Amino acid sequence: MWFAVLSSKEVGKKPLGVRRLGKDLVFWRDGKGKVHALEDFCVHRRARLSAGRVVGDRIQCPFHGFEYDGEGRVRLIPALGKSYEVPEKFRVKAYPVAEKAGMVWLWFGEEEPKGEPRFFDDIDEGFAYAEFRELWRVPFPRAVENQLDVMHLPFVHNTTIGRGNRTLVHGPVVKWIDEDSFFFYVFNEEDRGQRVKKPEELNPEESRVYLEFIFPNVWQNHISEGTRVVAFFAPVDRDKTMIYLRFYMRLTGIRALDGLMSKLAMPFNKVVFHQDKRVVETQEGDIRKDLLVQGDLPIMEFRKRLFREKVLVEFLFGGEK
Ligand SMILES: [Fe+2]
Repeated sequence: MWFAVLSSKEVGKKPLGVRRLGKDLVFWRDGKGKVHALEDFCVHRRARLSAGRVVGDRIQCPFHGFEYDGEGRVRLIPALGKSYEVPEKFRVKAYPVAEKAGMVWLWFGEEEPKGEPRFFDDIDEGFAYAEFRELWRVPFPRAVENQLDVMHLPFVHNTTIGRGNRTLVHGPVVKWIDEDSFFFYVFNEEDRGQRVKKPEELNPEESRVYLEFIFPNVWQNHISEGTRVVAFFAPVDRDKTMIYLRFYMRLTGIRALDGLMSKLAMPFNKVVFHQDKRVVETQEGDIRKDLLVQGDLPIMEFRKRLFREKVLVEFLFGGEK
């Protein structure tokens, strides 16, 4: 599966050493601007490639100048000369990468990449956005599920987006679009003693709020046609997740103005986001012990999909850390 792991603007010509999906990786752009991701060590004596530099289309180890191509093969060992043919075994693992929607995506899985990374097709080039990122000390599913959780609003966000004491959670309705993406619709109400409705009793068209999720780690809150909050959840380690939050706007149609407005709206989004962080970071990491209720339907659907991915389950729950 394709994981959004970095914002495109984080990867320049200078190699970037980061941890993602439990691995130390180096991301860098070759002479043509194409992004590559390799294991972040030199096969020779294990120095970090991320401490090196890019030379043409290769990354050079800072220690003895070994040069690696984008496929992770050593192409030059300076001490042995340019005429020396470097044996095949001098190589590090290279991860398939792609760029889309201003994000760098990493293929996670043993098989060859299938298809392209997916983003929301209703957010096009016409939108401007502001972005910020933050590390949360929670496993990846905890971070995602917080954004799929419609029950927490009147508690965690009672002073912001959850005002109005709408504690009664009808449904919610989850509508799968295809194997990897679903919409979910919110019908929260103030509790006046009425019976809570099942999803099948609700009409998605009557919902004021809907959100969308693309497995494994892309989420959007469709606030209005021209206003969206998008989050990418990049697993760092089993118990850490880097979250990229974007506020997309296309209100005036003038990019610079939309961009400015999204920047101005960012502090409010941060406040909301930090209301979440404070509580979510207290959650026990293992989602398997949870006792879910009807209002958690989007979370249940996410988990069904998650547990079908062996490499992800292994990363989250397998063996030793
Ligand atoms: Fe929240």
